[in-house]
Amino acid sequence: MIKIAITKGRIEKQVCKMLQEAGLDMDPIINKDRELLIETSDGISMIFAKSNDVLTFLEHGIVDVGFVGKDTLDDSDFNDYYEMLDLDIGKCYFAVAAYPEYKTKEFTRRKRIASKYTKVAKDYFSAKQEDVEIIKLEGSVELGPVVGLSDAIVDIVETGSTLKANGLEIIEKISDVSTRMIVNKVSLKFKKDEVFQLIDILKGE
Ligand code: PRP
Repeated sequence: MIKIAITKGRIEKQVCKMLQEAGLDMDPIINKDRELLIETSDGISMIFAKSNDVLTFLEHGIVDVGFVGKDTLDDSDFNDYYEMLDLDIGKCYFAVAAYPEYKTKEFTRRKRIASKYTKVAKDYFSAKQEDVEIIKLEGSVELGPVVGLSDAIVDIVETGSTLKANGLEIIEKISDVSTRMIVNKVSLKFKKDEVFQLIDILKGE
């Protein structure tokens, strides 16, 4: 039995579809109601969790494998896992975005940056040796510049429509994001065959 924690919602749907297309019996999962743990006839035990909680379950050895976005990995201090596979789905990227004036504006105070991803924002500006104030927002981060809370944002961009609709533009792209398969280091030792079998299935091999 391989234990998996998967990010609820889009990642769950896309990964389960990939596993189904590869021939695994995913019916109990695809047709589930509100159950949070499901075991399949192929020896998969899957739990459905919020992205950050996928890391918590993996960190505590509750699951062997996690499916999570690179955005969650990049914004977490937890790094005691192996990243095994880029599933090439859920593709988007981190970027700094602001009103066009941001590029030429002379700041006489610390810049204010709104983000849901405070670690990503902090790491980005630290690498540039820029001392900025990071303001945490839980969502609709574009509101930061729109209401005058922040000078810029660090956020995920997929189609760019949200930025465009709010008059914002990309100042700099930071890094790519997509869905990743991660593995608990101990599990890789003791369930190596199961883990690599799952990787082969997802790679279509
Ligand atoms: C994400 C992200 C942007 C938007 C980008 O937000 O934070 O706001 O999607 O997508 P786009 O480039 O295709 O417009 P999400 O919809 O997940 O909700 P949130 O703002 O509440 O986090």
